[in-house]
Amino acid sequence: MKILILPGDGIGPEVVAEALKVLRAADRRFGLGLELSEGLLGGAAIDACGKPLPDETLAKARAAEAILLGAVGGPKWDNIERALRPEKGLLAIRAELGLFGNLRPAILYPQLAGASALKAEVVAGLDILIVRELTGGIYFGEPRGIRTLENGERQGFNTDIYSESEIRRIGRVAFEAARKRGRRLCSVDKANVLEVTVLWREVMTELAAEYPDVELSHMYVDNAAMQLVRAPKQFDVVVTGNLFGDILSDAAAMLTGSIGMLPSASLDVNGKGMYEPVHGSAPDIAGQGKANPLATVLSAAMMLRYSFGKAEVADAIERAVGTVLDAGLRTGDIMTPGCRQVDTASMGDALCEALLAG
Ligand code: IPM
Ligand code: MG
Repeated sequence: MKILILPGDGIGPEVVAEALKVLRAADRRFGLGLELSEGLLGGAAIDACGKPLPDETLAKARAAEAILLGAVGGPKWDNIERALRPEKGLLAIRAELGLFGNLRPAILYPQLAGASALKAEVVAGLDILIVRELTGGIYFGEPRGIRTLENGERQGFNTDIYSESEIRRIGRVAFEAARKRGRRLCSVDKANVLEVTVLWREVMTELAAEYPDVELSHMYVDNAAMQLVRAPKQFDVVVTGNLFGDILSDAAAMLTGSIGMLPSASLDVNGKGMYEPVHGSAPDIAGQGKANPLATVLSAAMMLRYSFGKAEVADAIERAVGTVLDAGLRTGDIMTPGCRQVDTASMGDALCEALLAG
């Protein structure tokens, strides 16, 4: 298994270190044959070579079968030129590798029902999957920029744009995913206002004819945001564009108690993928051993499942997460009374122990 590790910035290196411990433990137990290499992305890459996505990193990413990423960005790089910001490195690697299919599952571990900001009964048993288009839409649309008008006023502008083929391929990812789960798919758009999503809705509706076993519904994004916090269990799979998916997946993350719990997979047409926690680089807690490594560990599990077809190893890692939560171990973000607060590394150690014990 050729895996490129991109620790990135902030808490990235800390959470990735724990995921690596867990992968190595899985290697000991299941004989995975890991071949790990490491690269620079984001602020770390800017500091070392002046670019958020160095050519060397891109070449390594192309050569790898899968990529495990921590997080990028931080206040240190907030004031540099826009084109060179750490986030540009992340967006560029997604675009260069064609990682258009972003899977963001939000599953509430029953042990964490009390850690959610929502009432336990609203979130108990929650299991939804957000499928976000990741290489198109307003994130990449041209023209874009900040220009100065004749009267001297500055004007910012972006273009929200999707072609039919882009909508269809993310639609297929979502329909296929729904087929393997509860067979319900909700397509989220703003078709009452934005033409780009009028087309989105039309293409999703056309596709539905090919998936008669999946029930397709449509929802406007403002309502979807409300429904996610009002009655989130009504959703099975949600499919949406890049910007709406960014926002809704943060909201969905919080339903599970903490954004520190959410993994993600970003896949290309062949299923090659980059795996990363949904949370960011959290510079405010970086380097203090406070970060929750579970989202990154669960991302590594997704990698084994989707890129390497090792469902049984992914299951074992996910069970280990359940075991440590059952034992009452919590990082600060998911801490509730009666549990034991541990640091990032202790959480990783406990996961390895649970994994190796079976
Ligand atoms: C995410 C992040 C990124 C995004 C940022 C860091 C560019 O918020 O993966 O959700 O907006 O896609
Ligand atoms: Mg985001």
